[in-house]
Amino acid sequence: MPSTVTMTVNGKTVTREVEERTLLVTFLRETLGLTGTHVGCDTSQCGACVVHVDGRSVKSCTALALQADGAAVTTIEGLAAADGTLHPMQAAFREHHGLQCGFCTPGMVMSAVDLVRDNPSPTEQEIREGLEGNICRCTGYHNIVKAVMAGAEAMAGTESAKVAAE
Ligand code: FES
Ligand code: FES
Repeated sequence: MPSTVTMTVNGKTVTREVEERTLLVTFLRETLGLTGTHVGCDTSQCGACVVHVDGRSVKSCTALALQADGAAVTTIEGLAAADGTLHPMQAAFREHHGLQCGFCTPGMVMSAVDLVRDNPSPTEQEIREGLEGNICRCTGYHNIVKAVMAGAEAMAGTESAKVAAE
């Protein structure tokens, strides 16, 4: 039986009818058309579907849309600034060639942003451990780690710039 769900997605409030069994990833991709969130497995292992729910990274293939009722959800489409300026982590992935085919990248970037919010200066080992839930079939991870280190530095710079401006 359909139920009504309301959540904020990338800053906009959306209300839709969903089936109780509808996964959050299906809701984002098929109901809202936000196809930047990918589905790379059916075993909850790949991390291509990671989004932020109330600021924390969540594999959206493991959550029901109804579980996000009332939550603030951010997908990769909502990470850049309104004027299109890339988030520092997105810019770092581009700069340091942290992607090849790009299939894993949305989930990788969303996980990396959450990781750096918890640990602003992660070591290489901490990045590798923090991204264990995200699988990349292309890059061998080396450039992803470099990108996350650079993204962490850039995010720290952005935060200090914000504080200085206040
Ligand atoms: S689609 Fe692979 S973990 Fe969600
Ligand atoms: S860049 Fe292809 S799967 Fe990661």
